Amino acid sequence: MDIAVFSTQPYDRRFLDEALRHHHGDGGAVALRYHEARLTLETAALARRCGAVCVFVNDALDAAVLEALAAQGVRAVLLRCAGYNQLDVEAARRLGLFVARVPSYSPEAVAEFTLALVLTLNRHTHRAYARVREGNFALDGLLGSNLHGKTVGLVGVGQIGLAAARIFRGFGCRVLGADPAPLPEFAALGELVPLPRLLAESDIVSLHCPLFPETRHLIDAAALERMRPGAMLVNTSRGALVDTAALVSALKTRHLGALAIDVYEQEAELFFQDRSSDIIPDDVFQRLLTFPNVLVTGHQGFFTIEAMREIADATFRNLACHLAGAPCAHRVPGTC
Ligand code: NAI
Repeated sequence: MDIAVFSTQPYDRRFLDEALRHHHGDGGAVALRYHEARLTLETAALARRCGAVCVFVNDALDAAVLEALAAQGVRAVLLRCAGYNQLDVEAARRLGLFVARVPSYSPEAVAEFTLALVLTLNRHTHRAYARVREGNFALDGLLGSNLHGKTVGLVGVGQIGLAAARIFRGFGCRVLGADPAPLPEFAALGELVPLPRLLAESDIVSLHCPLFPETRHLIDAAALERMRPGAMLVNTSRGALVDTAALVSALKTRHLGALAIDVYEQEAELFFQDRSSDIIPDDVFQRLLTFPNVLVTGHQGFFTIEAMREIADATFRNLACHLAGAPCAHRVPGTC
């Protein structure tokens, strides 16, 4: 079977090729057709004569794209990510498509990256790095505060939230969690509280819940208002969980003390590409980059060797289920 693999960079190809050799040997029955392009209605034709597509976070999987794929004979959609907010679940079911994801490839990868962002912002290492390279060893402006003793609020205590809770506990933080269906292990690490209380009591708020219609702009102007003055917000989950324009306003009034985002609501047009020679037309995004207390990274929370290996391996395990017609534990809920 041929598989059209969208949104691929050299690092994706490296790990997928390794996993292909491991699962199917050289010259096996499965061939990967790599495309750098994102999957959209315009690029769906690249999946012609392919039995499956393999896609990532910013590929379009709305009804029109799924219909175009199905009309060409595609029977399976293999997601290389955990979130499936980009998928029209109802359309996938109607078209009888097999859709599987990689639900938990390495919670530690994202949790550890969350800590990297928090520590960078808290101790200003991003600014110190630039200063020292220019021969500026002044400390003014680099004053931080201890993480020890601070209250950290985790919105979502599933796999990643739990891994983050363990790390923050190691730093001596008090951990709060808000989650309608928390993992039971959280009880030993922190206190479960309603979201308004978490926002009111936390020095650091970190988002680890999925993007659903109900969680879109979960952090809006009203939620920001509830946060402690000077608190830090971290989003390594999905961009649309926060209202970015409201973040800019809260940063300008200095109510929001610091912000780190690894994801951005309009990231599809920006991230995973070298845009360094382009004029970026997104004024909200560009405004964010002007604040000294804002750290933006381009959706790299997942990007470790261990996570990339597991994503590739799990993708082929999901494919094996599809080829064998066997039940798949990683099938996206609501699809057939
Ligand atoms: P998970 O499914 O194990 O945990 C998500 C938790 O969020 C669940 O316990 C769920 O009950 C909870 N939740 C649902 N609605 C909520 C709400 N309204 N308020 C609070 N909690 C709510 O998922 P996992 O593996 O922990 O991943 C979380 C998210 O992280 C993913 O959905 C994905 O969007 C994001 N992610 C980001 C990556 C990156 O590279 N930056 C990589 C991997 C995942």
